[in-house]
Amino acid sequence: MSPAAAATPILKASHLLGIEGLSVGEITALLDLGDEYVALGRAKEKKSPLLKGRTVINLFFEASTRTQSSFELAGKRLGADVMNMSVRTSSVSKGETLIDTATTLNAMRPDILIVRHQDSGAAEMLARKLDCCVVNAGDGSHEHPTQALLDALTIRRRRRSFEELTVAICGDVAHSRVARSNIHLLSKMGARVRLVAPRTLLPADAARFGVEIFTDMREGLKGVDIVMMLRLQTERMTGAFIPSMREYFRFWGLDREKLAYAKPGALVMHPGPMNRGVEIDSAVADDIEVSLIHEQVEMGVAIRMAVLDALSRGLAQQGRNTP
Ligand code: NCD
Repeated sequence: MSPAAAATPILKASHLLGIEGLSVGEITALLDLGDEYVALGRAKEKKSPLLKGRTVINLFFEASTRTQSSFELAGKRLGADVMNMSVRTSSVSKGETLIDTATTLNAMRPDILIVRHQDSGAAEMLARKLDCCVVNAGDGSHEHPTQALLDALTIRRRRRSFEELTVAICGDVAHSRVARSNIHLLSKMGARVRLVAPRTLLPADAARFGVEIFTDMREGLKGVDIVMMLRLQTERMTGAFIPSMREYFRFWGLDREKLAYAKPGALVMHPGPMNRGVEIDSAVADDIEVSLIHEQVEMGVAIRMAVLDALSRGLAQQGRNTP
């Protein structure tokens, strides 16, 4: 990355808490930077010294494989010191509150704190209290901005213009922060968004998003360019939302028969982790002609490098912790 490019500010805010507050310009700039980091990730020498001397803390209160490891790799590829705070080994399990833990970590003077928490609004609360930049890596069923950005990068590299696309977001929309962030992002970028879900798994405020809503999977998939499947989030369910897993797969699981309703050449996405045989059939998930699932993981590292880069530009602008 050239020094001139490194100086150009990308984000207005000093945190990344959600997609809702981002402009089309900010999203486009992050995706452009993401493309540069995809190229770096494919090179033999994958490192840049951009965050040398900086400290990044991953604070995860919920289990995560992809998100945590890709933030870790992203920080390391940019030369930062990255510390992973696993909740089970911390004093959180001894009753310390989120805010106590975060202020303790703040005293260690991190530059960027990545946080995942089961409560909606947790990242925003920390951003108000702490000195460092905060990145929301998923807060309850609210937002997961880097997932939507990596999904957008994956789509843009295959399809170029969002304006010509219809994207179906299918399954457990009600409990999904991935769905919410993607609805905001895809709508801002000009794509047509459909929510395709059983009534029990649609959010109560679904109408406020201004998207099309389908309660029949085959109807909802008709003519779409992208099918974005969601995991059934049983850990966030407080009652009986579906009759049984078998019933759910029959009506809502993406298999070849249902996918045939989408536009020929339609592409399939899933943020992972997948429940095979529940929301998606392995024959679709593993078909490299249609499934972008592995590409999404690659784009995840690149987009998280782009986000860390963008936030560090903000730190440099404010002269905060700048050597
Ligand atoms: C998502 C999450 O945690 O919100 N996963 C992820 O970040 N890769 C989606 C999910 O858990 O279903």
